[in-house]
Amino acid sequence: MAIQAFRAIALLLPALAIQAVAQGQGAIGADECVTTYDANVDYFASKISVDDAALFKVSYHKNYKVVTNVEKNLQYVLTQCGTPVPSAASFPNTTVFVNVPVKNTASMATTSVAFIEMLGRRSTLKVVDTEGLVSSPCVQLGLEKKEIVGLEDTDLVLRAQQLQGADVIFSTFGVEKGSENKTVIVSDVRDPGPLHAPAQNLTANINNNYNCFKSAANAKGAAKPIVAWTQFVAPASYNNNTASWTLSGADYKRILSTDAGATFFNGTDKSSFLSPSEFHAAIKDVDVIIDETMTGANFTSFITNYNFTSADEANYKFLKNKAVFRQDGLVNPGDGRDWFAGAVVMNDAVLQDIVRAVHPEVLPASVHYNWIRNIAKEEPKQVLTSANCTAVDATKPVPDRALVCKDMKAGGNVSAASTKSIAGAFSAVLGLLAVALTL
Ligand SMILES: *[C@@H]1O[C@H](CO)[C@@H](O)[C@H](O)[C@H]1NC(C)=O
Ligand SMILES: *[C@@H]1O[C@H](CO)[C@@H](O)[C@H](O)[C@H]1NC(C)=O
Ligand SMILES: *[C@@H]1O[C@H](CO)[C@@H](O)[C@H](O)[C@H]1NC(C)=O
Ligand SMILES: *[C@@H]1O[C@H](CO)[C@@H](O)[C@H](O)[C@H]1NC(C)=O
Ligand SMILES: *[C@@H]1O[C@H](CO)[C@@H](O)[C@H](O)[C@H]1NC(C)=O
Ligand SMILES: *[C@@H]1O[C@H](CO)[C@@H](O)[C@H](O)[C@H]1NC(C)=O
Ligand SMILES: *[C@@H]1O[C@H](CO)[C@@H](O)[C@H](O)[C@H]1NC(C)=O
Ligand SMILES: *[C@@H]1O[C@H](CO)[C@@H](O)[C@H](O)[C@H]1NC(C)=O
Ligand SMILES: *[C@@H]1O[C@H](CO)[C@@H](O)[C@H](O)[C@H]1NC(C)=O
Repeated sequence: MAIQAFRAIALLLPALAIQAVAQGQGAIGADECVTTYDANVDYFASKISVDDAALFKVSYHKNYKVVTNVEKNLQYVLTQCGTPVPSAASFPNTTVFVNVPVKNTASMATTSVAFIEMLGRRSTLKVVDTEGLVSSPCVQLGLEKKEIVGLEDTDLVLRAQQLQGADVIFSTFGVEKGSENKTVIVSDVRDPGPLHAPAQNLTANINNNYNCFKSAANAKGAAKPIVAWTQFVAPASYNNNTASWTLSGADYKRILSTDAGATFFNGTDKSSFLSPSEFHAAIKDVDVIIDETMTGANFTSFITNYNFTSADEANYKFLKNKAVFRQDGLVNPGDGRDWFAGAVVMNDAVLQDIVRAVHPEVLPASVHYNWIRNIAKEEPKQVLTSANCTAVDATKPVPDRALVCKDMKAGGNVSAASTKSIAGAFSAVLGLLAVALTL
């Protein structure tokens, strides 16, 4: 879960993009199909250009575009609905054909749910898998109201019916039998790190806000606290009943840590330890810990899991300075972490959280956490339920959780002006994204 979460899932975006922003001859409203097809009209009037390094490519034709998953060499033909679908014979037999804009989507992963919502396309979402993990308040509400259904697990006939109704299925793992020709695989893409995914590249506002936090946290001469992302792996049958303590070296964590003005520590000569004392020796200079252990969500459990004693509190800076964090600051009532959903999209807000952990002095004094909570200071989990659904309009993008960095005052109060709203900066981001992806 943790690994796939941050992977590029940009592939799903072109299919969702709305048409409302198209300009010129081909302009049509959101969700509308072309009623009078004209072979001479360019239905994707403006276009994005994707750089060579990107994980996907887009090529344009008058009434359809071809998105290629470069790594998997898979093609998706997105045809403006109401216009003729190009002949399948011209494409590899693995090609998936989708009419856009899509009206009904099924999502097999909570990460896709977040993207769909942030594009303002929740109204298309009809089926979600692992619905117990969904953190989005409005999708929880949709599930309660049965406007969205959880994918059936046991009744296979019902399951097939549910998937039949979807125009496109976003999946991270396998392809469901019978749904091959409409499944978009969004996993198996290399971990790109924040801002490296093409989708993020397109979201200038998120990028600019991210870069503003990055500059603030990397001011010349500022100290660089050492941060480690650690995990205790409890003894279990799959690991031969052997406990271990690990340091993560994942690219996106390295990038987030250094961009937050910290030094990323992934171990000197090894990153996995079978004895706690050896692990303690390895992390003796670490200033800030981000604990990724799945179980044991409080400081008492942290101390136990890592086999510290009260005497250790004087010897380790992260204990002495109360700098132990976890990624479960935003969860659903069943402990489904929004870290795997909203955080994947809102890179600027994630960086803000990491900056809060390592350089709080550059943020307003009253800044609140999103996902990264300090368990040493007993900051509680924030539980998202359907009651937290404020973006009731399913065709409106949900807001970003980040402050507007350029408007914030270090050490000051969080003013109303420094919080993004649906109507404010973030819809501009999504507008841009939608423009880019529609084109
Ligand atoms: C990503 O950003 C870089 C630098 O701004 C730019 O050269 C590149 O074309 C962008 N890629 C996409 C996919 O827009
Ligand atoms: C696609 O074509 C390849 C040969 O080019 C063939 O091996 C494969 O079975 C075909 N797959 C389908 C789903 O038709
Ligand atoms: C996908 O395959 C099913 C049969 O498995 C077929 O009924 C359907 O028309 C196909 N859809 C597309 C878009 O090709
Ligand atoms: C599992 O643990 C036992 C005892 O601790 C050891 O004898 C055995 O070699 C281990 N097996 C593996 C595959 O590590
Ligand atoms: C830590 O990361 C660096 C840079 O990627 C790498 O060279 C080093 O081997 C890593 N350390 C461990 C213990 O994996
Ligand atoms: C900490 O978590 C453990 C395990 O979930 C639980 O048993 C314990 O009561 C918790 N302690 C506090 C102080 O909340
Ligand atoms: C934890 O530390 C204690 C000493 O404080 C030691 O006796 C015990 O063996 C350690 N546990 C593990 C799993 O190494
Ligand atoms: C969720 O809603 C509750 C009230 O229903 C509120 O107290 C809480 O602050 C909200 N949580 C978040 C993270 O917005
Ligand atoms: C923050 O706001 C409080 C009241 O809301 C005010 O008393 C205080 O002076 C403000 N602090 C700063 C640094 O602006």
